[in-house]
Amino acid sequence: MKRKIASILICVAMVAAMVVGCGSKEEPAAAPTEQEAEADTPADAPEADAPEADAPAAGGELITIGFAQVGHESDWRTASTKSCQDVFSEANGYDLQFVDCDNDSAEQLNAVRTFIEQDVDYIIIDPIVSTGWDTVLSECESAGIPVIIIDRTIDDSDKYVSWVGSNFKTEGLAAGEWLKAYTEAKNISEVNVLVIEGSTGASATIGRTEGFKEIADREGWTILDSQSGDFTQEGGQKVMESYCKSYEGKFNVVVCQNDNEAFGAMDAMKAASVSYGVNGDVILISFDACTAGLEFVMSGDINADFECNPLAAPFVEDVIKTLQSGGTPEKEVYMVEHWYVNEDILSSIEVNGESQELTVVTQDIIDAQY
Ligand code: AHR
Repeated sequence: MKRKIASILICVAMVAAMVVGCGSKEEPAAAPTEQEAEADTPADAPEADAPEADAPAAGGELITIGFAQVGHESDWRTASTKSCQDVFSEANGYDLQFVDCDNDSAEQLNAVRTFIEQDVDYIIIDPIVSTGWDTVLSECESAGIPVIIIDRTIDDSDKYVSWVGSNFKTEGLAAGEWLKAYTEAKNISEVNVLVIEGSTGASATIGRTEGFKEIADREGWTILDSQSGDFTQEGGQKVMESYCKSYEGKFNVVVCQNDNEAFGAMDAMKAASVSYGVNGDVILISFDACTAGLEFVMSGDINADFECNPLAAPFVEDVIKTLQSGGTPEKEVYMVEHWYVNEDILSSIEVNGESQELTVVTQDIIDAQY
């Protein structure tokens, strides 16, 4: 594939996408319902490992893609990386240049600039932080290289073709609405919360924090503290160890902004003889719902886990195929996500005025998860 020939078409598509775009990232529209998300999402995303008859490399040359990944901090991240490597394989017609940026924003900007020098056909970025992007995205635009953003959002630039990811604020709202319904069902009137946030400046952290806080403020709950565990098990454990000392006997809810932090928090609570989960004194909430997280939901250690779906790559491939054929892809594609619980006492919650299902975790669900 010769990008130089295709770049004019692609630039036209980028401009069209910006004009036609489905709303700005700064002010995301109200969270889509699952039905809307499904409608926004390419319904027929190809299987990750199944090359299609009309695969982009039909002409014989591989399509080169640079992927600047956040790092390797969590199970979620591992699943996201694997999804991209499976979809953008040589067998499927791609040459994937993968860079693990180890949660270092400067490293991530360097990676993107190296991709520009390498003259790749497409650049995929999962932005570590949501700001500081406009200059480098302008450089990509000048080089005629379309950029696709996955997972986390960018707040200070619109110079990308498409974004494929999650509505993090909705995830936070869902956790709050679930906690409200759960505490009512269990006759728990005092709600004193400790939050272990994700990495500072990441849109996943910002959205989940905002969403949960909105419900906490509305319900008059006390958020005793909110500190970053950097989306890692070690970070979650450290923060929880210090919480157990500072807030001994004062908290009955812990919200971890990803599963790995929850694993660390559980170790810290165990060590401090604090009981948690469905039979414990502390309600434990997590996000991601990766396999290991769901196992802890099924065992009752985590009460509820709000999914963040890492399998964006098939939808990114759909965006690339649309560009290859001169079309205009959707500006925003939302992943479909589920809310998982241990107990069968609530069947649904209202989020943004819409009823959303709660799924009780079973072994079949765990076996099918990433
Ligand atoms: O951006 C997605 C978040 O980043 C996931 O919740 C977390 O596990 C990851 O590290």
